[in-house]
Amino acid sequence: MSTATPPTVSKEIADANFAKGLEGIMAGETALCSVEQGGLFYRGYEIHDLAKNATFEEVAFLLLEGHKPDAPELARFKGELVAERKISGSVLQFLKDIGPAIKRGTAVPMDVCRTAVGLLGHIDADCQDNSVAANLRKSKRLIAQIPTIIGHMQSVIDGRPFVEPETGGDARLSHAANLLYLMTGKKPSDEAAHVVDVSLILYAEHDFNASTFTCRVIAGTLSDMHGAVCGGIAALKGSLHGGANEAAMEMLKRIDVHIKAGGTVESYMQRAFETKEKLMGFGHRVYKNGDHRAPILSVLGREVARKQGPESLKWFDIGDKVQKIMLEQKKIYPNVDFPCGMTYFVMGIPVPQYTPIFVASRMSGWCAHISEQHANNRLIRPLSRYTGEAPRAW
Ligand SMILES: CC(C)(COP(=O)(O)OP(=O)(O)OC[C@H]1O[C@@H](n2cnc3c(N)ncnc32)[C@H](O)[C@@H]1OP(=O)(O)O)[C@@H](O)C(=O)NCCC(=O)NCCS
Repeated sequence: MSTATPPTVSKEIADANFAKGLEGIMAGETALCSVEQGGLFYRGYEIHDLAKNATFEEVAFLLLEGHKPDAPELARFKGELVAERKISGSVLQFLKDIGPAIKRGTAVPMDVCRTAVGLLGHIDADCQDNSVAANLRKSKRLIAQIPTIIGHMQSVIDGRPFVEPETGGDARLSHAANLLYLMTGKKPSDEAAHVVDVSLILYAEHDFNASTFTCRVIAGTLSDMHGAVCGGIAALKGSLHGGANEAAMEMLKRIDVHIKAGGTVESYMQRAFETKEKLMGFGHRVYKNGDHRAPILSVLGREVARKQGPESLKWFDIGDKVQKIMLEQKKIYPNVDFPCGMTYFVMGIPVPQYTPIFVASRMSGWCAHISEQHANNRLIRPLSRYTGEAPRAW
C-alpha cells in the first residue's frame, strides 16, 4: 500500500483560492447587512439614518423579522423583550458563585457572559430546536436576558444586591436604559440612555465579522443557537475584534500616564511605531477610508464629556491627537471601538464591561445570522494549504 495520500483538491486550485485570514474572500450570502467603503446598511437602511431615527429595539426587530416594525409590531416586540428579561435562579446562583473568580481576575466578564449563555441554553425548552419559530423565540430571550446577566454581574462585582431580579429591571425603561439601571441600580439620564442606545445600534450588525462568522460556522453544522452564540462571544472577546473597545481605553490611560510623567502623545506614538505596537481602536479589515460608525459615536461621546468639563474632555483631546498622528503617519483611521472606549469611560461604565455591552448589541445580529444560516444551510468547510511533511512511512 502506498504511504502517499492522494490530494483531494489539486494544489493549483487550492493555491489559487488561498487568502490568509480569508481576506477578500466572499464566504457566503446574507440579506442582513452590507459593509461597504461607501456606507454601512442594515437590510438597506443606512447607519446614520438608523442612529438618528431608530431605537435599538426597532433595529433588533428589523434584523430578526426582516422589515421595519409598525407601531403595534414594535409595542408587541418591546413587551416580549421586557417579559423575557428575568433570568433563572441557576444563572443568578452562577453569577454569585463566580464573583470571587472575577475579583481574582481568573474569570473576566466576557467569559462569564459566555458561560451564562451556555447555562441559559440548558434551561431553554427550545434549545435543541432549530426551526424558524424556535430560533425567533430564542433570539428574543437571548437579546432580553444578556443585559440582565451583565447588570447582575456588575452588582456582584460591586458587592451590591441584584437590581430587581424578580423582573430583570423596570418595564418602563428601554433596552439601553434598563441595561444601565441594572448595572448601577440608578435610573440613567435620558442622555446616557440615548448614547448607549445609539452605541447598541452601531454595534448591532456587521456582516461576516469574525464573531458572526464563528456563529455561522457553528450553526452551519446544525448545532444550536446558544452554542453558536457562545462561540460568537469567545470570538468577540479578542482585542483584534470587540475587545478593542476596552483595549483602546486602556491604551489612552497609558498615554495619560506617559504624559503625566513628562511625555507627549507624539513621543508615545513614536515609541509605539518603533516597537510595532498595534494602536487599539484603529484599522479595519474592510474599511480602509474610515469606519462609518466612528464619527457618530465620537460626536455623542464628546458632548457628554463637554458637559462634564475638562477632566472628561481631556480624553477626547488625547484621542484627537492620536487620530491625527495615525492618519498623517500611517493613513489609518479609527474604528468604532476608539470613540466607544472614550464614550463609555466618561459615562462611568467600568472598562471590563465594554465588550459585554457590545455582546448585548451584537446578540441581535448573531441571532439573525444564525437563523439565516439554519434557514438556508450549507456546511462551512474551507480548505487549508498543507505546509507539513511530505508523505512518509510510520
Ligand atoms: C482590525 C485589524 C485586525 C485589521 O487588520 P488587517 O486587515 O489584517 O490589516 P493589516 O494588519 O494587514 O494592516 C495593514 C497595515 O496596517 C498596519 N496596521 C493596521 N492596523 C493597525 C493598528 N491598529 N495600529 C498600527 N498599525 C496598524 C499593519 O501593521 C499593517 O502594516 P504593515 O503592512 O507594515 O505590516 C487591525 O487593523 C488591528 O489589529 N487593529 C487594532 C485592533 C482593533 O481596533 N480591532 C477592532 C476592529 S473593528
